[in-house]
Amino acid sequence: MAMKLDNVVPFGRALDEYRQMFCLSGSDLDSGIIGVGDGPASFNAEMFRQGRRVVSVDPLYCFSAAEIARRFDAVVDDIIAQVKATPEDWVWTYHGSPEQLKLNRIRALQFFASDFEAGKSEGRYVLGELPSLAFGDGSFQLALCSHFLFLYSAHFSYDFHRASVLEMLRIASEVRIFPLLTLMRERSPHLEPLIGELESRGFVASVEKVGYELQRGGDEMLRIRRSA
Ligand SMILES: C[S@@+](CC[C@H](N)C(=O)[O-])C[C@H]1O[C@@H](n2cnc3c(N)ncnc32)[C@H](O)[C@@H]1O
Repeated sequence: MAMKLDNVVPFGRALDEYRQMFCLSGSDLDSGIIGVGDGPASFNAEMFRQGRRVVSVDPLYCFSAAEIARRFDAVVDDIIAQVKATPEDWVWTYHGSPEQLKLNRIRALQFFASDFEAGKSEGRYVLGELPSLAFGDGSFQLALCSHFLFLYSAHFSYDFHRASVLEMLRIASEVRIFPLLTLMRERSPHLEPLIGELESRGFVASVEKVGYELQRGGDEMLRIRRSA
């Protein structure tokens, strides 16, 4: 399905945020990683600068970096105003303040934009979307999905979540998803049924506390792997 840029808030996170959201160890970072729904995160670009290769897949990659940056500029102040209007919803231990959050999102976008065209031609940014990904079985060790599944539970059905997670488990040995809250800061209604279904299919799923929290209460990730 073609994505409309007008419907997107292209906010991206940095490598250090990914590290904390997903409890990424040094050996995790050295493994074969795919970021699903990475959008304008600087994770891929920063990893590449460190000599590591990540593949990012997102429907947003049908647009140019300049188009994504224009959309970011059009929405960023409105989003930050919404954040300021709901102070009880946010924890500032990581970013410090809404103003600093804005600067951090600008920095991530600029880093992403500077890497995007070269990374696309190197196959590090790939156009694609859940629930179907054009990669072979077991292509990666780790599939990460930040701020897409569960967060948009009101927009994407349980069946979409189940198909998406099974697809990530097809292409990677382990899947990690963060956060587990919806935009309304409630635990996703899809989480418990999905864990039950994955366990009945022989996967091991665990909800784990992590060291990153911006949405108040959003400090847990889901880890899923095949049972040994
Ligand atoms: C809030 S952004 C998160 C970006 C990045 N993961 C991060 O945490 O910084 C959500 C991303 O999900 C992407 N997305 C939307 N529909 C998708 C789909 N069906 N499959 C994969 N990604 C999708 C959007 O294009 C957007 O880049």
